[in-house]
Amino acid sequence: MQQTTESQSWVNEDGAALERLLRQRHSVRGFLARPIPAPLLTRVFELAQLAPSNVNAQPWRVDVLSGGAAERMRNALLHEAASGAGESPDYPITVVRPGEYRTRQIDAAKALFSATGVKREDLVARQESFLGNFRFFGAPHVAFLSMPDWCGVREAADVGMFAQSLMLALTAHGLASCPQSSLSHYAAVVKRELNIPDDMRVLFGLSFGYEDPDHPSNVVRTSRLPIEEAVAFTR
Ligand SMILES: Cc1cc2nc3c(=O)[nH]c(=O)nc-3n(C[C@H](O)[C@H](O)[C@H](O)COP(=O)(O)O)c2cc1C
Repeated sequence: MQQTTESQSWVNEDGAALERLLRQRHSVRGFLARPIPAPLLTRVFELAQLAPSNVNAQPWRVDVLSGGAAERMRNALLHEAASGAGESPDYPITVVRPGEYRTRQIDAAKALFSATGVKREDLVARQESFLGNFRFFGAPHVAFLSMPDWCGVREAADVGMFAQSLMLALTAHGLASCPQSSLSHYAAVVKRELNIPDDMRVLFGLSFGYEDPDHPSNVVRTSRLPIEEAVAFTR
């Protein structure tokens, strides 16, 4: 990415702060048990609530779990995964990605396995690593993001905007997060535990809290395509 220089008149403090936050945010898969103080917890969700949405419909429903509620959900999801019951997602799980998308998925998995010492061919270790999702990677907080069943992909984009706003707000306050589609794999369990009405659909979840700086997975950083390959500027 092109670096800014002092000679560029549009360089300002806000831009520099935003760039810092965007670069600093990364998916964290090892958290400290330390809970977030309640006023700060409210604050980051207040900021996320400023996210834009189609016709300002604000189609997201957000369930934030801490303490015993997070623990009960962790146990319920792990129990369901261990029971051999089938997954119950509200939206199909993307299993096969074509071509370059699959290559990027494999590269991301390789980086994670290499950092945590998991051998690709060790299916037991890989499954154990996946179960970390349902342990919320040790985070004391988890949020589930849902939307009503009338929503389509445009509203799913709205929920995504809420999520990125939330992740940047967390980063700005010294906190970390991991967005997780895997937390929607057992949507029926999530809805049962939280009494979420049946006409709501769980899109994904997000574990968050204070990053554990010593957790081996947290050294992983992903790359991005060069801008020329992702963005077309036309005059
Ligand atoms: C909607 C969404 C769902 C994701 N689901 C998972 C997940 O289930 N488990 C996981 O470990 N990471 C998950 N991720 C994290 C991605 O792997 C990560 O964002 C990507 O590799 C880029 O890395 P970065 O977030 O560190 O920049 C998800 C990310 C998004 C945006």
